[in-house]
Formats: sequence, C-alpha cells, structure tokens
Amino acid sequence: MFFKKFLWSIYSFCYDVILFSAPHRAMFKTILEKIDGEGSSLVLDVGAGTGNLEFLGRNRSVKFIATDFSRSMLAILRLKNPNRSKVETILWNVNCELPAGVVRVDAIVCVNVIFTVTDLERFLRQMSKTLKESGSIFIVSPRSSFSIRMIASEHVRMTMARPFGIFILAIQIIVLAIPLLLLLVVNLLIETLFSSDQYVYFSEGTVQDLLQKLGYSVTVNDVLAGQEYMVIGRR
Ligand SMILES: C[S@@+](CC[C@H](N)C(=O)[O-])C[C@H]1O[C@@H](n2cnc3c(N)ncnc32)[C@H](O)[C@@H]1O
Repeated sequence: MFFKKFLWSIYSFCYDVILFSAPHRAMFKTILEKIDGEGSSLVLDVGAGTGNLEFLGRNRSVKFIATDFSRSMLAILRLKNPNRSKVETILWNVNCELPAGVVRVDAIVCVNVIFTVTDLERFLRQMSKTLKESGSIFIVSPRSSFSIRMIASEHVRMTMARPFGIFILAIQIIVLAIPLLLLLVVNLLIETLFSSDQYVYFSEGTVQDLLQKLGYSVTVNDVLAGQEYMVIGRR
C-alpha cells in the first residue's frame, strides 16, 4: 500500500499534463455537459486526483465533493480549486467505507480509478447508497488493450485541426517535455501493477452487468480514442 500511495504522490507532480491533452479535455467536457444537462447540483468525484474535472467545471453551477487517498493529489486539487464553497475535499481510500456524513449526491464520477478497487460490487453498492434516487454514475476506465500512443496520436490530430495547431503543438512539446517524461515513467510503473495483478482491468461488460444488477439502466461509450470506455448508469 505504501508503494502504491508513493507512486500516486509522484504522479501528482506530473499529472496535470493531461489537462493539456485534447482527448482528456473532450472527455471531461462530455461528462460536465451530461451532468449539467441532467440538472445535477452536487457531484461526488471519486479518485479526483489533481482536480481536473473540478477545474474544467469551475464556471458551471455544480458543486463537487472530491475524494482521493493521496494527500498530495488533494493538495494540488485545492490549489487549483481554491473556492471551498464549490469544492469540498475528503481523504478516502475506495477500498474502505465512505466516511460518515457524506451527503447524498446527484451524480458520481469515477474516472480512471476502478482498477484500484478490490471488490467492485461492494464499491458500487456503496456508491448506490450515496446516490440520490434519480442520480447517475459515470465510470471511465481503460480497456486491457489500452495504448497511450493512440491517445497521443488523437491529441496531435485534434491540436493540428486548431488554428496555429503546429505552433501550439511545438510549444506544448517544449514546455511539457519533462513532466511528460515523468508521466510516462510513472505510467510504466502503474502498468507493472497491472501485470502483477495488483490492479485489474474491469471490462465494460463487468461494470455494465453489476450496475444493471443494482437497478441501473446503462449506456456505454468510447472515450479517449477508444482506449477507454465510459459506462453511464442511470436509475
Ligand atoms: C489516474 S488518476 C485519475 C484522477 C482523476 N479522476 C482524473 O481523471 O483526472 C487515479 C487517482 O486515483 C487515486 N487512487 C488510487 N488508488 C486509490 C484508492 N485505493 N483510493 C482512493 N483513491 C485512489 C490516485 O491517487 C489518483 O489520484
């Protein structure tokens, strides 16, 4: 556990590179638009990391409860999202009980976290208790065939389609080279945890079946150049 926490803490120092990734921004925007469209006012962000969802949603009316087990992730999240009336933070390990007193929310977002969950059914049951009757849950997770190269190519394609795309790309490469390198190294270490069975790639079918068992109607979409899936459960 110490090694895992340590790894995620190192990750927190380079994780914001993904804020510059066009496919990641598009994925967060899709989630935020759906949450807004459903009229959600309070969102639980599970494994919120450095708070990119909260940052990109800062001009929307929605409020967030952001949870993570890494103090360092949450510290950066708070720096990026200083408005305490909009973003509350809770230190929480997803494999433990939710701290008492977490109010019921309109939506739950869980992006790239379920692979750290040891008992997915128990986790989803716990989430269901926290979700209001009409609420939605958004789960994004990598497919076992995940390739960061495919996301990088999609980023290049999307950036080149923008005015002055080639200059934007050149500046990003220069400015982000070092954190990008660190991100790739930590990613490799995390992949080692996958191959050692400490982390599990749950398929979209598994997530879909469990949510349906809990009474949700489910839709599944591709995100991040098809390298990840987004399962949306609505009650
Ligand atoms: C890949 S990051 C995703 C962050 C954020 N959801 C995003 O998409 O930007 C995974 C996050 O899960 C957190 N995490 C890993 N294991 C965890 C656990 N057992 N309990 C709670 N959070 C955990 C890490 O600290 C990290 O912030």
